[in-house]
Amino acid sequence: MTRMLVTGGAGFIGSNFVHHTVTRRPEFEVCVLDALTYAGHRDNLKAVAGDIRFVEGDICDAALVDRLVAEADVVVHLAAESHVDNSLRDPEPFVRSNITGTYVLLEAVRRHERRLHHISTDEVFGDLPLDTDEKFTEASPYNPSSPYSATKASSDLLVRAWVRSFGVAATLSNCANNYGPYQHAEKFIPRQVTNVLTGRPPKLYGTGRNVREWTHVEDHNEAVHLILEKGGIGETYLIGSGCEVSNKAIVEMILELMGKPVDRYEKVLDRPGHDLRYANDSTKLRTRLGWEPRHRGFRSGLAATIDWYRENTWWWGPRKDGIEKAYDARGG
Ligand code: NAD
Ligand code: TYD
Repeated sequence: MTRMLVTGGAGFIGSNFVHHTVTRRPEFEVCVLDALTYAGHRDNLKAVAGDIRFVEGDICDAALVDRLVAEADVVVHLAAESHVDNSLRDPEPFVRSNITGTYVLLEAVRRHERRLHHISTDEVFGDLPLDTDEKFTEASPYNPSSPYSATKASSDLLVRAWVRSFGVAATLSNCANNYGPYQHAEKFIPRQVTNVLTGRPPKLYGTGRNVREWTHVEDHNEAVHLILEKGGIGETYLIGSGCEVSNKAIVEMILELMGKPVDRYEKVLDRPGHDLRYANDSTKLRTRLGWEPRHRGFRSGLAATIDWYRENTWWWGPRKDGIEKAYDARGG
């Protein structure tokens, strides 16, 4: 058995990663370390609670992290503050968890000579112009726009420096926007779906022309397992489905799939510094490690995600009003 420590395993991608690992990779014995911030929930791991060990704790707690890393063979690092809008309101927890937390983890991994995979975002590269075919590559310069992406960029650079200076056995991945079950209702797709389910109009920032590359969370997690198995130490891999969609087109698709008129949405205040477009060239991951996304049709993946939110109101319902109150304070 390989002992795996998953930081942030009670969040959106982390809990899907833990489900994926427990059901499809029985060779791993999973321990989750999660601080259960507003974004992390024990409920997300209910289905696998008997198969894993769960430790509630902070990745900035050096003694705790040292002990858990010593007890693991492999560390998959997802714990982070993850929402751009929150980082614009209050960057402090982002600096703490994303930068200091990654530093604390790196020092433990260095001391105990453990294998690390660091999960990051394509937002570290800044944005691309609309209406071009240009894509980010592993060689793109770092140029983050928001406090969130600046702290994720910092964490990536720390990992790269620990590989080069201290010989830490780490890999990195930068994935495009994820969607799927257990995504917090503050994020774009779940927010709009739960808005419709609670009789609110979807809220589109600015013109809605901004484009994201939507990758199903299961495809992201399969890529992470491939990198753990076959990735080159010190290497970075970009992950992206190739499926680029504008925010406006997504809102219209959600309304249509949910049986509402496609123009029944509201345009609200744009996000300051709003990145225009993200798109990843994932040739390296595809050709060297053989990754292919299984969820190719965005429309069918979106329809399945809508069904999940429809069937799991117990999961998001109690938090919905609080999330919308916070958005009202920002102007929608
Ligand atoms: P999330 O906000 O849903 O989950 C983050 C988890 O980390 C939560 O369970 C939270 O409790 C935990 N956490 C936060 N600070 C912590 C701390 N100091 N100590 C311990 N646990 C802490 O985020 P997500 O969307 O699942 O993202 C997970 C990772 O993937 C992040 O590193 C994010 O940058 C990256 N990523 C996300 C996306 C996306 O589309 N969501 C895309 C690419 C990369
Ligand atoms: P988000 O899910 O916050 O991801 P990110 O900013 O990390 O890409 O937002 C995705 C896109 O949707 C982004 O362009 C901002 C936009 N957006 C809206 O138009 N309305 C909303 O209510 C939210 C939360 C986001």
